[in-house]
Amino acid sequence: MSLSFYSSSVDETKELGRKLGRILKPLDIISLAGNLGAGKTAFAEGVARGAGFKGDVMSPSFGLVRLYRTRKLNLYHMDLFRVSENETGEIGLEDCFGDPKGAVMIEWARAARIYLASDRLEISFEYKKEGRQITLRARGPRGRRLVDFLKS
Ligand SMILES: Nc1ncnc2c1ncn2[C@@H]1O[C@H](COP(=O)(O)OP(=O)(O)OP(=O)(O)O)[C@@H](O)[C@H]1O
Ligand SMILES: [Mg+2]
Repeated sequence: MSLSFYSSSVDETKELGRKLGRILKPLDIISLAGNLGAGKTAFAEGVARGAGFKGDVMSPSFGLVRLYRTRKLNLYHMDLFRVSENETGEIGLEDCFGDPKGAVMIEWARAARIYLASDRLEISFEYKKEGRQITLRARGPRGRRLVDFLKS
């Protein structure tokens, strides 16, 4: 099941993320795919806001993982752009994916594919005209719950 939106501004992208963040639950996984500058981190900021996180949200490029702690969630934001698959064992990803209060959003997820549950939400960001095309694809029932909510 998939759902597609056109976003004409960074604020629209964040707003879509915020909607999703409001209903995000522990163990949800969102992978964010798209070229450099396509809007993955902007969307992730919206998700963190929607989940109730008030602090700084930024690309975790150097730290690789950031934790946004809210009342209901430990929201992990990963960016594995610089990481290859044989290095992921050193980052402690299994602690994030294994956190019962944890939800994960991940940019450049390829290196972490052995950790990704098959049930997740995949979101792709593509440059289109002056804005971005954002496409959500549910992989399993958890992903579907999130897509269904954004549809309504
Ligand atoms: N409709 C839009 N949605 C999101 N970002 C937009 C949009 N239009 C313009 N932008 C701009 O595109 C950039 C998106 O940057 P962002 O850091 O979110 O990309 P990214 O996909 O995380 O890149 P990276 O792969 O480097 O991490 C911002 O500078 C933002 O202002
Ligand atoms: Mg980014």
